[in-house]
Amino acid sequence: MSGSSLVDKAQVDPAPTSSALSVRARGHLAGTDPAAPYASPALADLRGLPPLLIQAGSAEILLDDAVRLAAHPGLDVVVNAAGIMLPEDVLDGRSLKVAEDTIAANLLGTIRMVYAFAPHLATREQAAILTVSSGLAFVPLPLTPTYSATKAAVHSFGEALRVQLAGTSVQVIELVPPAVRTTLMNQENVEAAMPLDDFLTEAMSLLWTRPDAHEILVEKVQPLRYAVSDGTYDRVLSLLPAR
Ligand SMILES: NC(=O)c1ccc[n+]([C@@H]2O[C@H](COP(=O)([O-])OP(=O)(O)OC[C@H]3O[C@@H](n4cnc5c(N)ncnc54)[C@H](OP(=O)(O)O)[C@@H]3O)[C@@H](O)[C@H]2O)c1
Repeated sequence: MSGSSLVDKAQVDPAPTSSALSVRARGHLAGTDPAAPYASPALADLRGLPPLLIQAGSAEILLDDAVRLAAHPGLDVVVNAAGIMLPEDVLDGRSLKVAEDTIAANLLGTIRMVYAFAPHLATREQAAILTVSSGLAFVPLPLTPTYSATKAAVHSFGEALRVQLAGTSVQVIELVPPAVRTTLMNQENVEAAMPLDDFLTEAMSLLWTRPDAHEILVEKVQPLRYAVSDGTYDRVLSLLPAR
């Protein structure tokens, strides 16, 4: 209950001050030694304890849902489309929360879904996991650095996943959208973004006609996707806004 993180976080959430946390901690401890293992595993000597069940977060809840869904014998495709995209300013500490939430939704969300569903999918005769990255996985948008980083990570995770699952019935397909007119970052009416219907028509047609494709790349995303190999990366990056 000390240190700079409390001060930093005060901008984001003024509630957990050092003195308020001390009062709450004393209430929870109810006279127990703060170093007792169940009170504070970080401080305790854990040698000799029996195995502990650690409730690490929402992944366990997701797993319950997955087990329930897996009871439906027809489940053979999982699409990891959930995502958020928000601007960040690394000079403003409040953006750190945006960065953390973005990693949780876009990257951890995808990874948790794969862990939850892959065992069931591998029992199916034919199955697929669709990940959704972005052209920004290949050239980052400076305005959304963590968003872009999560999409690069989703690309990398999917590449490794495809190789791990190569001996199973599960195909791994990466959908790589360009800017599309959705509510993601309020770009429903942005002229430069691709109309949603056009994107869906082209993407679905690629899925039909190239069933073994690793990546679904509509024409409009190709300048970003191939910027590195085309030698245009520096120029494309310099054109993307930071603010
Ligand atoms: N549109 C683009 O320009 C573009 C470009 C490249 C990649 N993509 C990717 O395409 C995917 C779909 O985005 P979109 O354009 O369709 O945006 P969208 O209209 O904003 O849809 C995003 C969806 O993600 C869900 N979601 C967000 N956080 C979630 C969470 N923590 N748990 C569960 N669901 C969550 C939202 O649910 P609620 O509505 O309930 O919040 C919403 O249904 C995203 O992964 C995005 O990064 C989009």
